[in-house]
Amino acid sequence: MTTQRLNIAVSFLVIFVSLIAVFGDVIRLPSQASKFFRPTEDDSSVGVRWAVLVAGSKGYWNYRHQADVCHAYQLLRKGGLKEENIVVFMYDDIAKNKENPRPGVIINSPYGEDVYSGVPKDYTGDDVNVNNLSAVILRNRTALKGGSGKVLDSGPNDHIFIYYSDHGGPGVLGMPTSPHLYANDLNDVLKKKHASGTYKSMVFYLEACESGSIFDGLLPKGLNIYATTASNPEESSWGTYCPGEDPSPPSEYETCLGDLYSVAWMEDSDKHNLQTESLHQQYEVVKKRTAGSSSSYGSHVMEYGDVGLSIDKLVLYMGTNPDNENFTFVDENLLRPPSRVTNQRDADLVHFWDKYRKAPEGSARKVEAQKQVLEVMSHRLHVDNSIQLIGKLLFGISEGPEVLNKVRPSGKPLVDDWDCLKTLVRAFERHCGSLSQYGIKHMRSIANICNVGIQMEEMEEAAMQACPTIPAGPWSSLHRGFSA
Ligand SMILES: *[C@@H]1O[C@H](CO)[C@@H](O)[C@H](O)[C@H]1NC(C)=O
Ligand SMILES: *[C@@H]1O[C@H](CO)[C@@H](O)[C@H](O)[C@H]1NC(C)=O
Ligand SMILES: *[C@@H]1O[C@H](CO)[C@@H](O)[C@H](O)[C@H]1NC(C)=O
Repeated sequence: MTTQRLNIAVSFLVIFVSLIAVFGDVIRLPSQASKFFRPTEDDSSVGVRWAVLVAGSKGYWNYRHQADVCHAYQLLRKGGLKEENIVVFMYDDIAKNKENPRPGVIINSPYGEDVYSGVPKDYTGDDVNVNNLSAVILRNRTALKGGSGKVLDSGPNDHIFIYYSDHGGPGVLGMPTSPHLYANDLNDVLKKKHASGTYKSMVFYLEACESGSIFDGLLPKGLNIYATTASNPEESSWGTYCPGEDPSPPSEYETCLGDLYSVAWMEDSDKHNLQTESLHQQYEVVKKRTAGSSSSYGSHVMEYGDVGLSIDKLVLYMGTNPDNENFTFVDENLLRPPSRVTNQRDADLVHFWDKYRKAPEGSARKVEAQKQVLEVMSHRLHVDNSIQLIGKLLFGISEGPEVLNKVRPSGKPLVDDWDCLKTLVRAFERHCGSLSQYGIKHMRSIANICNVGIQMEEMEEAAMQACPTIPAGPWSSLHRGFSA
């Protein structure tokens, strides 16, 4: 009796095992079912594609960030995403800017078409801020009043694509309206989004200086988030299609039209059938192009989070343009790296300088541009000198620079206590004026001051000594509030 039962059990097991052998991949656990069905485009288990696009700057000299974001919007629409599923954050001061040679038009490459037309004004002007961004991602409608009220209303089967283009610094991303977005807060939002169970997987593309520091040691695995960044934690990212470069923008443009990493992924996505190209393949192409062709410029594109997700096809996040169905990905980069690019941190200077150069001799415009160049330069000197002096006041002439320039090993976040970092940034700004879009490059130094245990009172004392007064220039002004 018992033997018979055992025999039945054994033969059942044998049949089961051979079934697996015969059908291979077909037998899946129920929990794997949706993954299994993924490649079938019109299967409902694929879910909805959502996107959040953020340009974190304002000002004509930052033209390129909003141009990048507008381009991304057009790309996703051509890929089949619906307007209601794409949330756009852009200050929207470029298209109608008096410096814009083509009023109402924004381009993202020298021969590119207008990318501004049709971009929804979901969050513009001062609504482009940290609170609204996290409320949109976490679909917290009570925190949003006015505007389009559009939020990431995603469900458990949905896919989310977030793309952010801006200035940054170690551990921080710019926002046109204070305060800046700190890495710990961004990663907290992503963890909360994961905890809410309202997506299947997420891809985050990030362009900013030191953008690797936003996720390095901070974005855990297991959130089903795959992130790539334009640079590693210690280097700047690069603008492209800038005046004086090859290729350069049309001569009437005195500003960079795009950013190197951003343009690399978008120009790749623009022309391929994204059903056949994986995130990983795109990462390789973008990495090659962003690295540049000489050692004097370019940055290292990095991957963070659940890197295994990069086997996914791009179509899952960006859709695909039906016109490209016959353009399958070939593992050869047809996009030649440009011969020269501009450090993101110098792009404002490039703008003011080009404006100065082209303005007629003796014109009011020439005088204005000259003043702007001098203001930028003197602000930079002021911020650089103040930080260095504070280091010396706190740690001594020789130890100071050593503490400020220390870099933690990769995998370790910039700072242990983010509240300390923010407190010290405010202490600095109270006496020395705004850190500004340029000065956030010193965030690592301020983080190091925290890491060795300096408290607010000591920082305040040192900042007071280093900066007897806040300079009058517009870049140091605190009229927009503290950056932390
Ligand atoms: C939504 O935003 C409001 C106002 O900012 C806040 O009080 C509340 O805690 C938020 N809710 C969630 C679930 O985050
Ligand atoms: C965005 O944030 C600001 C300040 O936090 C708030 O006053 C405004 O209502 C928000 N915008 C929208 C569209 O909800
Ligand atoms: C792709 O190629 C097929 C076969 O040659 C053709 O029928 C189809 O129209 C092409 N698609 C596009 C968008 O050009």
